[in-house]
Amino acid sequence: MTTVIKNGTIVTHDLTYKADIRIEGGKITEIGPDLSGDTELDATGAYVMPGGIDPHTHLEMPFMGTYSSDDFESGTRAALCGGTTMIIDFALPSPGQGLLDALKMWDNKSGRAHCDYSYHMAVTWWSQQVFDEMPEVVARGIISFKHFLAYKGALMVNDDELFSSFKRLRELGAIAMVHAENGDVVAELSARLLAEGNTGPEAHAYSRPTQVEGEATNRAIMIADMAGVPLYVVHTSCEEAHEAIRRARQAGKRVWGEPLIQHLTLDESEYFHPDWDHAARRVMSPPFRNKMHQDSLWNGLASGSLSVVATDHCAFSTDQKRYGVGDFTKIPNGTGGLEDRMPMLWTYGVRTGRLTMNEFVAVTSTNVAKIFGMYPRKGAVAVGADADLVVWDPERSKTITARTQQSAIDYNVFEGHEVTGLPRYVLSRGRVMVKDGAFDGQEGHGQFIERCPNGPVNQALSAWKDLTAPRPVQRSGIPATGV
Ligand code: URP
Ligand code: ZN
Ligand code: ZN
Ligand code: ZN
Repeated sequence: MTTVIKNGTIVTHDLTYKADIRIEGGKITEIGPDLSGDTELDATGAYVMPGGIDPHTHLEMPFMGTYSSDDFESGTRAALCGGTTMIIDFALPSPGQGLLDALKMWDNKSGRAHCDYSYHMAVTWWSQQVFDEMPEVVARGIISFKHFLAYKGALMVNDDELFSSFKRLRELGAIAMVHAENGDVVAELSARLLAEGNTGPEAHAYSRPTQVEGEATNRAIMIADMAGVPLYVVHTSCEEAHEAIRRARQAGKRVWGEPLIQHLTLDESEYFHPDWDHAARRVMSPPFRNKMHQDSLWNGLASGSLSVVATDHCAFSTDQKRYGVGDFTKIPNGTGGLEDRMPMLWTYGVRTGRLTMNEFVAVTSTNVAKIFGMYPRKGAVAVGADADLVVWDPERSKTITARTQQSAIDYNVFEGHEVTGLPRYVLSRGRVMVKDGAFDGQEGHGQFIERCPNGPVNQALSAWKDLTAPRPVQRSGIPATGV
């Protein structure tokens, strides 16, 4: 059985051209003019792009006394309906729990996925056991490890643990990741705000000013540089953090920054909404910022100092958010976005001229595949690549609303936003999962994707660090010690 996508314009991270695509056995087998097949999908007037890859999701994750509400079934259904054909979720050991044990838990959840997936591993504590288990995690094709500098008393690691873990990752050819907020300062500010009677969701934003993010981002960059490991900074939300990343990249350091679609399009005024539920539903870390920071993030994507747009999809219902009535520190942190990332970025990025179509493909798909060791199997429209494709109709519109969304929660942080640019067809390894905008997926179709360690960036950085490592000076004579 062959499927052909006909009459479309292929858009990749570097090319835009008219051609048909033939798909057999889940792979792209031919790209060219006038192809025919058993099933033909009409892409007239549409762009055919690599399916989106969201490198940052938390599905059914135990967090802040509850579980995030979207699981691998509803989460990947939402992803596909928005044009995303792969996710990378975080396997999160609780402090004291082994990495391999956490992987088993994630394997038990992910069997329901409609689309392909991988995991990042979180390092939430440090010990000989964690050190010893890391190679087996990498051998399973999980090559990226996230560290939290926030969530003191829960997931946070200290600088000595961070440095130990980063050095181990360098040995393994892996990628270091960091949630960069200074958890000590956040804890202190939170306690003071509560004591002063600041208990509402707006205090969440007060407790996490941009300085805590700028400081932690800079610290993580310097520690990664000393360890000699490439660093990926998740949910970069402000100019201070972006500035640290920009400066590091200009200095030749191997660092990537990941703004979220939420931070690009929603601002801090959400927290001042008179409705408690409205504000609490938008509580996430880091919090939404003002327009100056949003402009900085957009400009970073256009100039290349920021590399990827993700969602950090971590959805909690209104009832779950209400755990924090009277104490903002108990509001589960997280927002949704899996279904909306691509249409929102197209609408506010490509249609406004902030991004080219090719940049859109780069930041939603190709850069993710390259950074995380799965290019060109994923993130490419090329012969031999997985046929994870989206036929994108730039004229199709809708108003985002929780009433019609796939996510299991009862609201949507983008409620009321009109988007233009939506999938006509979405294919996962050649299987059509979205037809004329309607979901037609298959639970369990998703496969775990192994990723390759020691990519070109790891190799280059290691070579450079070896070349410039401290060495003893060879001296011809050593003076006799004086008496
Ligand atoms: O508020 C957020 N971002 N929740 C999800 C967990 C994390 O920090 O990424
Ligand atoms: Zn985080
Ligand atoms: Zn996250
Ligand atoms: Zn809004």
